[in-house]
Amino acid sequence: MKNIAVILAGGIGSRFGSSMPKQFVKIAGKCIIEHTLEKFQAHELIDEICVVAKEGFEEEISRIVLEGAFGKVKKIIIGGSERKDSSEAAISALSTKDYSDECNVIFHDAVRPFVTARIIGECLSHLNHYNAVDVAIPATDTIIEVDDGYITAIPDRSRLMQGQTPQGFKLKTIREAYRLANLDENFKVSCDCGVVKKFLPNEKIGVVLGHSSNIKITNAEDIFLADKLFQLASENKNYLRNDDYYAQGLKSKVVVIFGGSYGIGEEIAKKCEGFGAKIYSLSRSVTGTHVESMSDVESALSSINDQEGRIDFVINCAGLLSKQPLNHMSQREILELINVNYVGTVNVAKAAFPYLKESRGQLVLFTSSSYTRGRANYAIYSSSKSAIVNLSQALAEEWTVDGIRVNCVNPQRTKTPMRTRNFGAEPEESLLKASDVASATINVLLEQFTGQVIDVKLK
Ligand code: CTP
Repeated sequence: MKNIAVILAGGIGSRFGSSMPKQFVKIAGKCIIEHTLEKFQAHELIDEICVVAKEGFEEEISRIVLEGAFGKVKKIIIGGSERKDSSEAAISALSTKDYSDECNVIFHDAVRPFVTARIIGECLSHLNHYNAVDVAIPATDTIIEVDDGYITAIPDRSRLMQGQTPQGFKLKTIREAYRLANLDENFKVSCDCGVVKKFLPNEKIGVVLGHSSNIKITNAEDIFLADKLFQLASENKNYLRNDDYYAQGLKSKVVVIFGGSYGIGEEIAKKCEGFGAKIYSLSRSVTGTHVESMSDVESALSSINDQEGRIDFVINCAGLLSKQPLNHMSQREILELINVNYVGTVNVAKAAFPYLKESRGQLVLFTSSSYTRGRANYAIYSSSKSAIVNLSQALAEEWTVDGIRVNCVNPQRTKTPMRTRNFGAEPEESLLKASDVASATINVLLEQFTGQVIDVKLK
């Protein structure tokens, strides 16, 4: 008896509003549907995957399947204008002699990339006891029933749950439910369990507990949440990592750190060296390298490449903070801040490109927690840091085809000499240690994601 996953990707994402259907939008360096396919491809109990594509996007899906080596994908079919039409298209594609009536079929939204192995597994195991299974989480808001502008009922919230996907069925059950539904002219439903509930009312539908992270990416703002959920997932993995993992990832790798002679840069250098990487620390004070000078940056990288034959990671920690109102600053001071913080970052990125393309490596930039909202007395610093976030996201997209990852680390207030110069002595416990920011940065170096802003916070 096969376990088949049907990935529904036949929608257009009108609420999301991007130029292409939202399932093809990239988060953490991959299309949303790629993340979803990875979950089902990796699940030991899933035998086969059928992707339902929107007409005109079959080739795009084929390309993703080929590049991602999603060997379990055996069918790519075209969906219909409504979600239920896409489900039905899958049911008819599975109605051949290759698939027994007793097959388990689980339908999942392509735009729910955070489904977990636990949810998929429980959905399948519940199909040993039920012919239909839903996944849901307890309702968090009070749900009101409204008719004509008035509340007609306020159901008891403790009995209400919010539906997610996957939804699982015996093939014969969901096929029969749709057969009956098609005899009803007024047939209208929002999900496949709804079809079973309405047309096979005696069928008990089991419920598996979903997860609040198993969100459906619906509106454009959901991308911000999705970005953070990917970061959390990778942070959770970090607890399981040991020194061997870091040594394996960093041994003999060539790491270039601009601004590497003190503070966070110095800590990254020490840690990477400890794991066997070859470190090149560049700075104004020690090597006379000024990031604001393109020729300084280019010649430094070129001579490292001549010596080592490769550069795997380039990290830019060089930054300048001068805390004063704009009106008190001279033109020279303003330009110096913009040049070191922003132009310097652009220089490092552009000069690093050919080497990182060669090594399929990573560029790591640094922003500051002030990037989301400008702060009085460091307008130029925080607006430059904001520009760096934008720059890293844009370059991550531009350079994906070249195999280069670009990420941006966003440390909270950190105890560094630069901070102490500007803010004086502050309570130790209110500041991150530079070595903790360095550890978080090393985790980023060894991740496969790109285009992420990684927040590092006091625990
Ligand atoms: N879906 C589908 N076929 C359709 C409509 C939706 O396969 N005709 C899929 C979507 O691709 C998505 C999932 O069903 O993975 C959930 O649908 P929803 O988020 O509502 O997607 P869209 O219909 O794409 O979005 P919108 O309603 O905003 O247009």
